[in-house]
Amino acid sequence: MKTIIELSKKWMYYTFPKLTVLVSVEDKNQSSKPNIITIAWHSPVSLTPPEYGISVDPRRYSHDLIVEAGEFVVNFAGFELVDDMHFCGRRSGRKFDKFQDTNLTPEKAQKVNAPLIKECYAHLECKLVDHHVYGDHTWFVGEVVAVSADEDWFENGILKNGKMPIYYLGNNIYNSYGTDGPRVKK
Ligand SMILES: Cc1cc2nc3c(=O)[nH]c(=O)nc-3n(C[C@H](O)[C@H](O)[C@H](O)COP(=O)(O)O)c2cc1C
Repeated sequence: MKTIIELSKKWMYYTFPKLTVLVSVEDKNQSSKPNIITIAWHSPVSLTPPEYGISVDPRRYSHDLIVEAGEFVVNFAGFELVDDMHFCGRRSGRKFDKFQDTNLTPEKAQKVNAPLIKECYAHLECKLVDHHVYGDHTWFVGEVVAVSADEDWFENGILKNGKMPIYYLGNNIYNSYGTDGPRVKK
C-alpha cells in the first residue's frame, strides 16, 4: 500500500539514490584557486551534439564562477573519495581552498581551463552553451568538448564488476551498490 506524501515534505528524497559527481570550475577572480562543488542533480542532455546538464543553486560560490568562466568539468569519483566528496558538498569555496584541504589534485584538462580532478576515474570537459533558471536552481548545459577516463574501470564502455562509483541517498548517507551484485544481460 502506498502512502500519499505531502508536497511540503522532502519529495525529492524519493529520487535517491543519485550517482553523485564532483564538478570543478575555474575561479577567474583568484586564478590559482579553482573550486570544486558536489553535484547530485546532473544528467546527459543530448548525444549529438554531446551535451551535459548540471543543476546549481545560485547561492553556491560555484554558480557565478561557472557563469564567468563559461566552462566546467564533470568528474566521476570512486567510493574511496567519499570523504572528499562530502567535504566539497558541505564547505564553500568562499572560505575554503578545496584542492588544498582535500586529497584531490588539479590536473590540466585537454580543452578547458578548469582543472580535472586527477583521482577521479572519468571526466567530461564542458563549455557552457546555455543556462536557465528553474525555480530555485539554475540548469547549466555544457557541450562536452573532451572526455578522458581510466580504462581500468571499464570493459567495452561498461563499468567493470567491483568498481564502485558514489551514490548519495540523502541525509548525509552515501553508498556504492558496487557492480558485483546480480548482473543480467537480456
Ligand atoms: C551529496 C551532495 C549533493 C549535492 N548536490 C547539489 C546539487 O546538485 N546542486 C547544488 O546546487 N548543490 C548541491 N549540493 C550542495 C553543494 O555541493 C554545497 O552547497 C557546496 O558547499 C557548494 O560549494 P561552493 O559554495 O564552493 O560552490 C550537494 C551537496 C551534497 C553533500
